[in-house]
Amino acid sequence: MGLLAILAQFSTSFGWQSLALLFLIAVTVTLTSYAVYNLYFHPVAKFPGPWYAGISELFYSYTIISGSAHLTLKALHDKYGEVVRVAPGELSFCSATSWKDIYGQRKSGNVFTKDPRFLRTDETLRAPHLVSTLSVEEHNEAKKLLSHAFSPKNLLDQEDTILRYVNMSMAAMTEESRKGPLDLKQWYNWVTFDVLGELCFGEPFGSVEARKTSEWVATILNMVIFVSYSCAISHISLSLEKFVWILSPPSVRKAALNHITKSRAKIQARMDRGEGPRKDFCSYIFELREQMGLNEWHMTSYSNTLIIAGSETTATAMSTLTYWLCRTPRVYEKLKQEIRGRFKTSSEINSMAATFPYLTAVISEIMRLVPPMPFGTPRVVPEGGETVDGTWVPGGTFVSCHAYCSSRSAKYFKNPDSFDPERWLDPECTDNLSASNPFLLGWGACLGQNMAMMEMRILIAKSVFLFDFALADEEDRSWEKMKNYILWEKPALWVRVTAREGVC
Ligand code: HEM
Repeated sequence: MGLLAILAQFSTSFGWQSLALLFLIAVTVTLTSYAVYNLYFHPVAKFPGPWYAGISELFYSYTIISGSAHLTLKALHDKYGEVVRVAPGELSFCSATSWKDIYGQRKSGNVFTKDPRFLRTDETLRAPHLVSTLSVEEHNEAKKLLSHAFSPKNLLDQEDTILRYVNMSMAAMTEESRKGPLDLKQWYNWVTFDVLGELCFGEPFGSVEARKTSEWVATILNMVIFVSYSCAISHISLSLEKFVWILSPPSVRKAALNHITKSRAKIQARMDRGEGPRKDFCSYIFELREQMGLNEWHMTSYSNTLIIAGSETTATAMSTLTYWLCRTPRVYEKLKQEIRGRFKTSSEINSMAATFPYLTAVISEIMRLVPPMPFGTPRVVPEGGETVDGTWVPGGTFVSCHAYCSSRSAKYFKNPDSFDPERWLDPECTDNLSASNPFLLGWGACLGQNMAMMEMRILIAKSVFLFDFALADEEDRSWEKMKNYILWEKPALWVRVTAREGVC
């Protein structure tokens, strides 16, 4: 007899209410057994953490899309210590050693591979790219080819492009600042996106020139929020994740779709144009196509990732730095003295000239205080288990280090919530600076970190040389309460910008 026939007979004999009750009891027993197993018998049950995180994936999934993952995880580490069980099979680590153990090269040669639930892929709209490629071999192959785009020779070409857009934006800022306060968040976004547009597709997005955010760029944060929904849903169940397009909020879904469609059109236009006199990132992606058999969707994904990874992060670092300089006059004054005492005109400023210890310390400190990518990339402990920060962790466990948690830890940094670049220069400082890893480390570390450092050095040195900045609203603390969806959702940054007299 089939199941339906049994149910029909049961309902005829005992009534539908009894059948519903039976169903309810079965569901309750299953869920309770699942929770009890997770709480007491799961291989990572012995690790500290709140009971509600240990019984199901719901708590951590919600944390990912809550916008306050950085605060929730920091509070958990403050309460439970350097390792916290954040979901049934998932541990968050917060220590300098765990960064090396999880992401670095291990003596055993074992590799902690990427978590397949973090960046879900398919063969079209969400085709795999460098960051989401799970196979270490494929990742290495792609990275080897793409790293040519970041070679010392190409870095010089990149510097020309950066200088051009920074100079253009400084001239435009001089003009616009006479009309009233400027939203510098937008200005930094315009520069970093135009630079990436030119380096990636051989043409800028035209934002600096138009002094307006391009529609494509405006949808990027929604694209990242969509990724965090996908990540949260796949934590609950990989099969549920197939419905991410239905389960995510309509506005986020619409913007993500719009973004992907526009990216696809962009890569198609670049393919139609063919190679120009100078190689751009797409030239390397097209080489990957031949070597690794990529299709148009894969190439769209690769270029899109370079744009998002390279511009949103740098713009965040610049905006947060401006905010914290305005809030910390002691540091701002010292930086002004260092920069204004060094150069007579802004044309003397380039990445080499802007390489001096105080500026480097300021950049390191802002990325410690507000890591542009605060969410920890999860990894999988290899079969057989491994040791992380002196603790044995069973194979198959998901592990991560969240940049915000370790870089704001009082165990590693004195006054962790203050903006204090001196800690990077003072030989007597007892802080453990290796707990701050804004570019990640190991085989998945940021490929564009030299370019990012170059862009930030030039932008900071030129803007501090040419302008005086003051927050338009001294009371506004929204920059200290930003929401985080893998990347930060940045509020407006209204600043009174005054061009210095007699300086050009
Ligand atoms: C302040 C600026 C930047 C910060 C803080 C930053 C941070 C990071 C982090 C944390 C990752 C690891 C992501 C993960 O595995 O989940 C990463 C990867 C990456 N970043 Fe950056 N990034 C910055 C700027 C740039 C720039 C300017 C580029 C150039 C286009 C770039 C290109 C990349 C690429 C290609 C990867 C993937 C590396 C791989 O998977 O092997 N980033 N970045």
